[in-house]
Amino acid sequence: MSQPKEIPLMEKIVSLCKRRGFIFQSSEIYGGINGFWDYGPLGAELKRNLRDTWWRAMTRDREDVVGLDATIIMHPGIWKASGHVDTFADLMRECSITNKRVRADHVEPQSGTVLRFSGAESPTGWRLDRVLTVLMGKAEHIESFRKRVRQLLVQSAGAAAGQPDALVLHGEEKIDVVEGSVDFHPETGGLLGAARPFNLMLKTYVGPTATEADVAYLRPETAQAIFAQFKNVVDSSRQKVPFGICQIGKAFRNEVTPRNYTFRSREFEQMELEFFIPPDEVIRILHGSVAEWSETADLSAPQPNWGWDMWHHYWEKERVAYYAGIGLGADLLDYHRQKPDELAHYARACVDILFKFPFGTEELEGIAARSDFDLSQHQKHSGKSQEIFDEDLRTAAGQLDDAARTAFSASVQDEWAARAAKNGKPEDAARAAAQEFCEKLFKGQYVPHVIEPSAGLDRLALAILAAAYHEEEKADVNGKIEKRTVLRFHPRVAPVKVGVFPLLKNKPELVAKARAVYETLKRQMHCFYDETGNIGRRYARQDEAGTPFCVTVDFETLGEKGPELLDTVTLRHRDDGRQERVKIADLLGLLLPQVQ
Ligand code: GAP
Repeated sequence: MSQPKEIPLMEKIVSLCKRRGFIFQSSEIYGGINGFWDYGPLGAELKRNLRDTWWRAMTRDREDVVGLDATIIMHPGIWKASGHVDTFADLMRECSITNKRVRADHVEPQSGTVLRFSGAESPTGWRLDRVLTVLMGKAEHIESFRKRVRQLLVQSAGAAAGQPDALVLHGEEKIDVVEGSVDFHPETGGLLGAARPFNLMLKTYVGPTATEADVAYLRPETAQAIFAQFKNVVDSSRQKVPFGICQIGKAFRNEVTPRNYTFRSREFEQMELEFFIPPDEVIRILHGSVAEWSETADLSAPQPNWGWDMWHHYWEKERVAYYAGIGLGADLLDYHRQKPDELAHYARACVDILFKFPFGTEELEGIAARSDFDLSQHQKHSGKSQEIFDEDLRTAAGQLDDAARTAFSASVQDEWAARAAKNGKPEDAARAAAQEFCEKLFKGQYVPHVIEPSAGLDRLALAILAAAYHEEEKADVNGKIEKRTVLRFHPRVAPVKVGVFPLLKNKPELVAKARAVYETLKRQMHCFYDETGNIGRRYARQDEAGTPFCVTVDFETLGEKGPELLDTVTLRHRDDGRQERVKIADLLGLLLPQVQ
C-alpha cells in the first residue's frame, strides 16, 4: 500500500488559518483578488496584539520615540521627492501573445522548441495577422501545444475569437531549439518583450475631475509621512535629536507577483521607526571623536558620542530582542547584511532580519542607515527647511579657533569627495556641499540623519503562525491516538489568552461560577467562554487556536471535594498539558504578567 502523501507545511498552515478564522482570501465569494487578504476573528486579535507589542516596545517603553498616525493619501509631491515616482519600479517583460507581465528577474530558464505562426482566424470572421512566437516545452505533445496556443489567443482576444477548437493557426514554422532561455513567459510560453520599468505605486484621483493633475498615490510605505511631518513633531513634542518617530499603518504596492500567501501582498501593514540622529560630524565637534563599533561594544544604553554605526547596531540588537520577547528566538532568525554594491547610493548600511519561513529564509524587517537623504530631499522639493538648531553644537563650534575650523572643514571635504568618487558622482560638487554643510554646522544647524527599522506586520503575523505551528500525537478520552495541531503562540501575542469552561453545562452552579470567572478575567485580557463538548475536546479546540491557558470550574470549585478546594479552579497549560489548582482570587495575578 502506498504511503499517504505528506502535505507541505505551508499548505497545512493555510488550511488551519482558514478553518480557524485567522486569514481568509479577500472577496472570496467573488473568486478572490490576488494579493489581498482578510483577517478573521483570531487573525484580527493576533495582529492587534502584534501591533500593541511593537508600539509598546518602540514608543511607550521609551522616552526617545513618539508616535504618528498619518493619512494613506498624501500630496503627490512627497513621492516625487522620495524618488518613488521615478524609481520605485520593477523591471517587467510582457508576453507577446497575452500581454501578461512577469518580473524580469523571476523568469526561470526554459528549454524546448520555438515555433512561429503567421496568424490565426476563426469561422466567426475574427482574424489575427500578427506573428506569434511560442516555446513548446520539451515534454509537450505538438497537438496539445497547438491547443494551448489557440486557448491563449481566445483568452486574450475574448468572445470575438469564438471557440478555441474552431480556431485555425496559420503558417506554422519551427524556427529554433533553445536551452535555458529566459525569453519566454513561464506560464504562457509566449515570446517576452524587452524589460521595461513598471511603477509599483497604486494610483487614484483626488477630487471629481479625475484628470492627470488630480493623480494621487496610495502610500507604498509609511515612512515618508514621518519625514514630511518631522518639523511639526519637533516643534510640538519637545523631543530633541537623537529621537524617533514611529508609525503603524497600511501600505500598498502593486506587486507584480504577489506570492507565498500573505508574505508578498498588494495591501499590507508596516511598522516603521525613523530614528533621527546627528551626523557624525556633529559628534566630532561635540565630543572630539565618534564611538567606534566592535563586537564587544556596549549597546545596552545609548551614549552621546554614538555615530550612525553604533545606532545602527543598537537598533539591530533592540529589534532582535523584541522578536525574542514574542517567541521568535535566535534559532528562527537569520541576517542579510547588504554589501556596499547592494546599497542605495545614500545608504551607509542595511541589515535585513530574516525569518526561516516554510518556503525559505526571507526578509521580515530591514534596518537601514539612510543618511540625511529623505529629509534633504523634502527640504529641496518643498522649499521648507528641515534643519534643526542645536545650541550646544554652536557653543562647541564657537570654541574652535579659525585653524581648527579650517582643518575640520578640509577633513569633511576629503571624506565627502572620496564618497562621491566611490559612487561615481562629481567630487567638486561634493567638496562645495561639504563646505556649505560645515558652515551651517558652525552655526549649530544641520539636517538630521536617520536609522530606519522597518517591519511588515503581515509578514510578522505569518512568521508567528509558522513558528507556532506544531503537530502532536495525543490519546483521546478513549485512549485512541490522534494527530492534533497546537499553535504554540507566546502568551503575549496569542489571540485568546484564556479559555474558561464549566466542567458540565447542565449544572447551574458550575455554569454560574464559570461565567463569574470569565467576567472577571475578560476585563483584563481576551478570554473565550465555552461549555459545549467534553472537556478534552474543548482543550483541543483551544490548543488549535493557540490559547495558552484554560480554566475549568469543577466540583472541587464548589467545595464538594473538601472545603480546602472551595473557590479553586483547574488551570491547564497548553504546551505541556500540566494542570494545577489555583485559587480564583489568584488567577489574575498569575496570568496577567504572562500575557502582557
Ligand atoms: N521604508 C522602507 C521600506 O518600506 P521595504 O524593505 O520595502 O522598506 C519594509 O519594506 C518591510 O515591509 C519589509 O521588510 C516587509 O516586512 C514589509 N513589506 C514590504 N513589501 C511587502 C509586501 N508586498 N507584502 C507584505 N509585506 C511587505
